Amino acid sequence: MKIYNFSAGPACLPDVVLRAVQDAAVDHGDSGMSVMEMSHRSKPIVELFDKATSNLRQLLNIPSNYHVLWLQGGASLQFSMIPLNLLPEKGRADYLDSGAWASKAIIECNKIGKANVVGSSKESNYSYIPKEYEQDIKSTYLHITSNNTIYGTQIHVMPKVESATGFLVADMSSDILSRPIDVTDFGLIYAGAQKNMGPAGVTMVIIRDDLMGKGHREIPTMLDYETHAKKESMFNTPPVLSVFAVNETLKWIDGLGGLDEMEKINRRKSDKVYQEIERNSLFMSTINVDDRSMMNIPFIFIDRSMDDNEFLSFCDERGLKTLKGHRSVGGFRASVYNAMPEEGVDALIFAMQEYERSK
Ligand SMILES: Cc1ncc(COP(=O)(O)O)c(C=O)c1O
Repeated sequence: MKIYNFSAGPACLPDVVLRAVQDAAVDHGDSGMSVMEMSHRSKPIVELFDKATSNLRQLLNIPSNYHVLWLQGGASLQFSMIPLNLLPEKGRADYLDSGAWASKAIIECNKIGKANVVGSSKESNYSYIPKEYEQDIKSTYLHITSNNTIYGTQIHVMPKVESATGFLVADMSSDILSRPIDVTDFGLIYAGAQKNMGPAGVTMVIIRDDLMGKGHREIPTMLDYETHAKKESMFNTPPVLSVFAVNETLKWIDGLGGLDEMEKINRRKSDKVYQEIERNSLFMSTINVDDRSMMNIPFIFIDRSMDDNEFLSFCDERGLKTLKGHRSVGGFRASVYNAMPEEGVDALIFAMQEYERSK
């Protein structure tokens, strides 16, 4: 039976990427050595990092005044690195509180400077993206989470930063490479790889050159973006296997036709699921229609007395895995990232219909 993994992350990867990892894990480029055994100073690995960076630059159309960094510590470490590097002493930044990850970023910022929460949808369990809010023109940056993995909301139109010197910072962990973006709208973009880019272990940062090396304060060497930019992400031993998988994923997206094509596919897949949720007499969405995510689709039983576990087992028996909703939302969550094949989405819809008929 074909298995479809609807996990929110670590998430499914394209088969071709997994096969390439399998080969390179044993013998990288006919070298007789595993990619995991090779020094990051060796020519094949330096070339691998260069290729991953240039492939990302090409897909996202990253201008030359931005650096691409491959870091560790997950997106969570960025919650601290961003204010540490970018905020002046006693500085402040605007934060949009659109979900659990945004609120974690706010907590970390407050340990370093002041996070000014411009808007929050917490009172409605983050079922929408706040849109009417006032920015503080003294804030250094505005931090947003472009896609809220847990609640299934997504920013469809990026906000403009009002301060003339301010810039936009975005956590794109759960929708990076799912659609085209204009990198020049942002000062910094970051994403943990383990949803749309590859496996856990590597975090992508795209940062505008003029934001680095400001020396606002003394910070640990490893937490300084400039350290990693100067050493082409090889200041210390990098996660080579993860970057290998990311590079294969980038090649796969390019082969599909790039981000315009990726967005079309993602839109088609998510539209189908939303249509079925609307049509099906058993299920409902928890999310404001305008803010629905193309990546993570939470849904619940209309009749809350129905047994979630029974539907989860029904899906499980049909090879549809990891559909349990996050504990803060309940019900179900279908994560339909780039690598989820359309057949997986069709199989889920079929199961929802079959379940409806069985009731
Ligand atoms: C939007 C978002 N930001 C941050 C994180 C945290 O990422 P990491 O586990 O890489 O620290 C996640 C993880 O799911 C996420 O979905």
